[in-house]
Amino acid sequence: MPSLNFLPLVVLFLGFAYAQGISSQPYYFERLDANNTALLIIDHQVGLVPLVRDYEPDEFRNNLLAHAAIGNVFNLPTVLSSTSETGPNGPLVPEIVAMHPNAPYIKRQGEIDAWDNADFRAAVQATGKQQLILAGITTDVCATFLALSLRQEGYSVWVNAQASGAASKTVADDAKARMRDAGVHVISPYVVVSDLLRTWANNTYNVQAIGWDFAYWTLRGYMTDAHAAAIQNGTLVPGELDFN
Ligand SMILES: *[C@@H]1O[C@H](CO)[C@@H](O)[C@H](O)[C@H]1NC(C)=O
Ligand SMILES: *[C@@H]1O[C@H](CO)[C@@H](O)[C@H](O)[C@H]1NC(C)=O
Ligand SMILES: *[C@@H]1O[C@H](CO)[C@@H](O)[C@H](O)[C@H]1NC(C)=O
Repeated sequence: MPSLNFLPLVVLFLGFAYAQGISSQPYYFERLDANNTALLIIDHQVGLVPLVRDYEPDEFRNNLLAHAAIGNVFNLPTVLSSTSETGPNGPLVPEIVAMHPNAPYIKRQGEIDAWDNADFRAAVQATGKQQLILAGITTDVCATFLALSLRQEGYSVWVNAQASGAASKTVADDAKARMRDAGVHVISPYVVVSDLLRTWANNTYNVQAIGWDFAYWTLRGYMTDAHAAAIQNGTLVPGELDFN
């Protein structure tokens, strides 16, 4: 009769392997594909912006413009939508509309979930894209309702959290958790730019992407400025190389 002395070791090993995920399916890392991606701009309305309390106003304005500008960096089909414009929500932020003069702009007659509006559904379907990047005010209502509806329809949904705002950080955190539970990718705009760019040696898109950095990500813009200044006019000061 074979010895069972090693059985506890086998059990221990299997438990360890399970804990390490060795026995589970490999994680599928979904990448954005510019050919299969569309950008949705949801309820970035002048009357709703003041409801946002999880970002400072000027920071949030920058985030809104950065979201809209991604569509132009990568020539993504873009759909704009607002709801109840003639009421307190007001029109879309004018700079965003100016960035996308030819994009479909669906003015919903009150539907809170944009997916409840047939014209909006048709505009999204007309893009023919499966990976949808969206941001909306507020995070918990306009962004989340649409994100969950799109997940129900089988789309891959990417919510730009920085261009979505809520009445408090707690509300935003709960909304993001709810979306993640539904398989939504909650990401920053820089994730979108980097994933679409793939490589800093992207000859087609690198110039536009660096332009986007300069316009919307001040620190990376200055980093690039500093590097260019060092190469063009820089010189080492005494001591600079002495300590590494
Ligand atoms: C995307 O489209 C471009 C131009 O049609 C093509 O060169 C490229 O291979 C496509 N990329 C993917 C991942 O399908
Ligand atoms: C540059 O970006 C485009 C758009 O995302 C992508 O299709 C292409 O593969 C990238 N080029 C390289 C060399 O990765
Ligand atoms: C380098 O110096 C020249 C002359 O002062 C100036 O015109 C140029 O803008 C500088 N380059 C950078 C990147 O600062």
